[in-house]
Amino acid sequence: MSETPSSRPTVIKIGGSTLGAADTSLEDLVAYHRAGGRPIVVHGGGAMITEWLQKMEIPSTFVDGLRSTNERALDVVVGVLRGVVNARLVAEIVALGGRAIGVSGVDGSAVRAERYDERLGYVGRVTGVDGRFFLDLLDAGVIPVVAPIGLEPPSQPLNINADTVAGEIARATSAEHLVFLTDVDGLLDGGGAIVPVLSAEHAAALRAAGTLGGGMIPKVDACFRAAEAGAVAYVANGTRPGTARRILGGEALGTRIRTRGKG
Ligand SMILES: Nc1ncnc2c1ncn2[C@@H]1O[C@H](COP(=O)(O)OP(=O)(O)OP(=O)(O)O)[C@@H](O)[C@H]1O
Ligand SMILES: [Mg+2]
Repeated sequence: MSETPSSRPTVIKIGGSTLGAADTSLEDLVAYHRAGGRPIVVHGGGAMITEWLQKMEIPSTFVDGLRSTNERALDVVVGVLRGVVNARLVAEIVALGGRAIGVSGVDGSAVRAERYDERLGYVGRVTGVDGRFFLDLLDAGVIPVVAPIGLEPPSQPLNINADTVAGEIARATSAEHLVFLTDVDGLLDGGGAIVPVLSAEHAAALRAAGTLGGGMIPKVDACFRAAEAGAVAYVANGTRPGTARRILGGEALGTRIRTRGKG
C-alpha cells in the first residue's frame, strides 16, 4: 500500500544513535523520494562528537544534561556534524541512487539562532527558519540533508540540538510528517510499554514522573511544536528494517504525537 506522496514535505530526523546500524532508513527514504515524496533529512551525531572531543582531548562539561560548547569544542562540533556525519550520510544516499545535498543551518542562513545561556557557550536556540530555502531544494529535485548548526547573525555558527532543528524546520515548511528515527521503539511509559498516541497531558505526566528524560525530551517538545503547525509526528525505531517505509506509507508505528482536537 503506498499513498500518493504529498506535496508537503516530510522531515525525517536520523539519530546519531541509529547511524551506521544495519537498518533500511536511507533505502526507504530514497524510494520515497523516487516515488514523489519530499523528504528533508536532519541528523544528529552526539556520540561521534563525544568520541572526537575525547580524541582531541577537549574536556566536556555538562549543564543540566546539555553539553557546554566552548570555542575549541565548537570547531569539533561543526567539523564532525557538517563534515564527517553529513558527508557520510550524503554519500550513502547518493550511493543508493538518491540526489542529496548536504547543508547546515548556516547555509543560506536557513536556521538562525542565538546563544541563550552563558554557561552553555556556543549552544543556540532557534530564532527563525527560512522554510523556502528547504522547499527550493526539494523543488530542484534534491534531498536536503541538514546538519544541526545554526547561524547567529552576522557570522557565528552555533551548536543546536538536532531534534529541535528538525521540529522547527517541520514548522517552517508546513511539513505533513515529522519522523524521529531513534534507537528505541517509541516513547516508553513507566512500565516500559510503548505509548501509541501521546497527548500533551500524558507527556507532562510522564515528564513529571521522571519517565520521560534525556534524549527523549527535545524530541517530544519538537513533536508538539510541529504538531501545532499541523504536522503528524512520530518517534520510532530506526534500527528496525522497514520502519521509515512503513511510517511514510501511512502505518502507525512507534509513538504518534497529536495535539488537542487533531487525530
Ligand atoms: N520515556 C522514554 N521512552 C523512550 N526512550 C527514552 C525515554 N526517556 C528517555 N529515553 C532515552 O532517549 C533515548 C533516545 O534519544 P537519544 O538522544 O539518545 O538518541 P537520538 O536522538 O536518536 O540520537 P542523537 O542524539 O545522536 O541524534 C533512548 O535511547 C532512551 O535512552
Ligand atoms: Mg538525541
